[in-house]
Amino acid sequence: MRSGLSRAGLVPASFVAIALLAGLGTVSAAQDPIGDRQDAMDDIGRAMKTASTIAKGSADSYDAAAAGKAMQTIASAAAELHTLFPADSQTGGDTRASPKIWENMADFDAHITKLEEAAKAGVAAAPGGLAAFAPAVQAVGATCSSCHDLYRLRKS
Ligand code: HEC
Repeated sequence: MRSGLSRAGLVPASFVAIALLAGLGTVSAAQDPIGDRQDAMDDIGRAMKTASTIAKGSADSYDAAAAGKAMQTIASAAAELHTLFPADSQTGGDTRASPKIWENMADFDAHITKLEEAAKAGVAAAPGGLAAFAPAVQAVGATCSSCHDLYRLRKS
């Protein structure tokens, strides 16, 4: 019975996968890395706003689940960033990625890892209450600005 149910669930999923593959055609997997990384950054930005609001709130209204979720959103989106700066995406669209990224890819990637790890620490801190969560949010915030200062171009 259980396997029958899971099979029924798998069939539509595989149809979706086939449809997606067919849609991709001959184009490479990351079709729009600039758009995708900007979307990931926007998700990160929104989650960071939520986390900051929680961190500035009162201990009475502290919502550990919402706090953990915001940090998990950042960690997951950060994990995607590793592959979203391929060599052929240095220019195009309205990218503000600095050319320095591709001159220092190992360092840039280490900045992504720092963000990811700080966000995971935030997930771990969330159940510990506001006193544990607020400094974790600050630590995540520090990783944003240290990378942007080096690797994001100013608005033109
Ligand atoms: C590893 C470096 C790095 C880290 C860490 C990082 N960013 Fe970014 N961020 C960038 C780069 C590079 C861009 C420009 C991307 C582009 O336009 O192609 C960007 C762009 C953005 C944008 C604009 C997205 C858009 O729609 O154009 C927002 C918002 C943003 N970052 C928020 C954040 C926040 C909030 C954090 C921390 C929680 C963060 N970033 C951490 C490198 C980083």
